Amino acid sequence: MQVIHTIAELRQALARYDSPAFVPTMGNLHDGHLALVRRARTLGDVSVVSIFVNRLQFLPHEDFDTYPRTLDADCARLAELGCDIVFAPAESELYPQPQTFKVQPPAALADLLEGHFRPGFFTGVCTVVMKLFQCVFAQAKGERHAVFGKKDYQQLMIIRQMVQQFALPITIHGGEIERAPDGLALSSRNGYLSPQERAEAPQLLLALRTLAAGVLAGEHNLAALEHHAMQTLAARGWQPDYLTVRRREDLQPPTEHDLQPGRLVALGAARLGRTRLIDNWEF
Ligand code: PAF
Repeated sequence: MQVIHTIAELRQALARYDSPAFVPTMGNLHDGHLALVRRARTLGDVSVVSIFVNRLQFLPHEDFDTYPRTLDADCARLAELGCDIVFAPAESELYPQPQTFKVQPPAALADLLEGHFRPGFFTGVCTVVMKLFQCVFAQAKGERHAVFGKKDYQQLMIIRQMVQQFALPITIHGGEIERAPDGLALSSRNGYLSPQERAEAPQLLLALRTLAAGVLAGEHNLAALEHHAMQTLAARGWQPDYLTVRRREDLQPPTEHDLQPGRLVALGAARLGRTRLIDNWEF
């Protein structure tokens, strides 16, 4: 496995391949990331994982400075898995000047849910992903593949639409959420949880599944179901941002016609102590 820190070296290393399969990450890899890399290895003729904590997608009060940076451990796990190339650029390599050109997704997709609580987040994500795509795919001659986890459901939807609208010749694959045995979705931020918070954390999924079960049982007053889910978590000491049922295709509130199995997703974000967790449940 090659560990590469510059765009020029990455392009040189990729020159002898036709069909890269790419997994962008911010590092501190867990089994959820590794499942995406395993998937990537089945898709192209070279697997590339980027590790870059992207300042553009953090708000000033968020955890950019303390986000866990564990490059050596990440590389060891990736090498064991048979990953071909790790691209781990310094900030000065990816952003040699302030990144003033940005990719701004439309408000209808990016200002709701995560984007409402983290303004500018998806502009930061789309900008770095577009740039990483240029680094990885610019000279590919064959199929280009990129794999994103479904835990960041809205991110995956926005990346899919960005690729479509810019006519990028890249196939986007969604990887299923990997969960701990008690249901907690794997996340780099789970490492912030105290033992008591870790024991409480699966309640977020439980609240989302209860919300979904209510809809499937025929309760169509979504506002009441969502309010109840938020109250349930709040009573247990959480600070919920949102727990809501949306259409899978565009994350808009469902109409009566949409309230049927296979079309919906319950999404939630809530703070437990100082840790903000997100999760979702398709149903
Ligand atoms: O999902 C993530 O880890 C990040 O948002 C991504 C896609 C690597 C962009 O920084």
